[in-house]
Amino acid sequence: MYTNDMLESIKKVEATRGARVGANLRRMTAEEKDAVLKAFHPDYRDDAFTTLKVGPNKGEKVPVELAVLLEGKSRVYGKNINLDKIDYDVDVLVIGGGGAGSSAAIEAHEGGANVMIVTKLRIGDANTMMAEGGIQAADKPNDSPAQHYLDAFGGGHFAAKPELLRKLVMDGPDCIKWLNELGVEFDKMPDGTMVTTHGGGTSRKRMHAAKDYSGAEIMRTLRDEVLNRNIPVVDFTAAIELIKDEEGKVAGAVLLNMETQEILIARAKTVVIATGGAGRMHYQGFPTSNHYGATADGLVLAYRAGARLLYQDTLQYHPTGAAYPSQIFGALVTEKVRSLGAQLVNANGEAFMNPLETRDVSASSIIRECKERGNGVQTAQGEGVWLDTPMIEILGGEGTIEKRIPAMMRMFGKYGIDIRKQPILVYPTLHYQNGGIDISANGMSDIENLFVAGEAVGGIHGRNRLMGNSLLDIIVFGRNAGQQAAKKCKKVKLKKLTLAHVESFEKEVEKACGEPEKLSPMLLPSYARKGE
Ligand code: FUM
Repeated sequence: MYTNDMLESIKKVEATRGARVGANLRRMTAEEKDAVLKAFHPDYRDDAFTTLKVGPNKGEKVPVELAVLLEGKSRVYGKNINLDKIDYDVDVLVIGGGGAGSSAAIEAHEGGANVMIVTKLRIGDANTMMAEGGIQAADKPNDSPAQHYLDAFGGGHFAAKPELLRKLVMDGPDCIKWLNELGVEFDKMPDGTMVTTHGGGTSRKRMHAAKDYSGAEIMRTLRDEVLNRNIPVVDFTAAIELIKDEEGKVAGAVLLNMETQEILIARAKTVVIATGGAGRMHYQGFPTSNHYGATADGLVLAYRAGARLLYQDTLQYHPTGAAYPSQIFGALVTEKVRSLGAQLVNANGEAFMNPLETRDVSASSIIRECKERGNGVQTAQGEGVWLDTPMIEILGGEGTIEKRIPAMMRMFGKYGIDIRKQPILVYPTLHYQNGGIDISANGMSDIENLFVAGEAVGGIHGRNRLMGNSLLDIIVFGRNAGQQAAKKCKKVKLKKLTLAHVESFEKEVEKACGEPEKLSPMLLPSYARKGE
């Protein structure tokens, strides 16, 4: 399946493998990390960013593609929206059917609220489903939430909002217990102890996993719980604008049936945005590991309603996206592959870095190896470096790959690559938005009654996230948002509904930027098939 040039390079990888097994690859110093980030991380490319002209983050840096949407044209613009015709009337409206949205809905239901999920695709069509390597939580005797905090705070360049990170690590162990009791089939030892491994930047083995389809297993369980509780799920229906009441509090959403294009009105005492990430924005032309619907919708809705964003200028490029073959270009090759011992090796067979540096540093080092040092392996779509997977079997024993990362084995096996015997080619892929909507530890944004959970939140991880802290944050902050929203709605008395905030935002945009180019939120990627 590999080309002849690739096979020649693989011979060099094989020739150095024996000497590399057991070799202790040096970690970079703080100065070396800073230097490689500044020179090669995509977040440092000035031409890829612009400054917002309108809204709560006016004057701040943002990716060009996101600015176009934040300052885009509302989908309700010019439409006669009748806010008196209420189609759904609920206590808690959850926008998004992934892990955070489902967790929020379950807890809101548990709290006695009348809750409904609305999702533009189907429940479970989400980045949660695509998560592979695992979920962190400090629940082993040699670990502690404080240790977890230090790892994540350092990995995020000391920029995480302390109150959010504190909540993440403190609630971690209970979330694993909750998921386990709901029925997630975590990897366990014969005595029932959970198997845990390292991820990049962790000082303790705290990654709990269900092989290498941890997210799919968690999503399966959450979806079952939502359905078992008969929580209504309105699918193929997108939220296209938040509704406020005349006191400026969030009071529902304008919905768009994606199939019929019908506009529907949901009135709600509280709203939880759980719309996930933005990989399908393909910032700077990167491929993505994200699901089809990851188009930053929640950020657009919240921004137009007046909510502040935090760290909207920082994205995570997962170091190991599949670079070959083209059919899986950009797909996630879980960090667990490196946790289990696979090294990153250049075209000459040289291991050029410690494979468990934090993600931003790893991605930048791979880009440097290819772009500056010319040590990448060429493909029809670009280039990549080797991830030497056969090392896993040498280090962990025969059968380790099939047992611990069967999905990886299957994904490459479909294209004739046996990862037990041959290395795989990888290059950074757009994976995660570190930034998002600013919230407090109670899950609420700075707009009254608007809660946010999951990848749409900014600031939990700072300017870089460690592996497995996203699956954890969707559960911690999803549950929290559901609990808080259910509590809050008991005190909410809604006033008359209005979309005046959208109108005034549009006027400001026209004044500052002229007629907006694009309709937003984006809802589906630009290459979505139309009308078929
Ligand atoms: O590499 C991975 O399995 C991804 C995990 C994550 O983003 O947390």
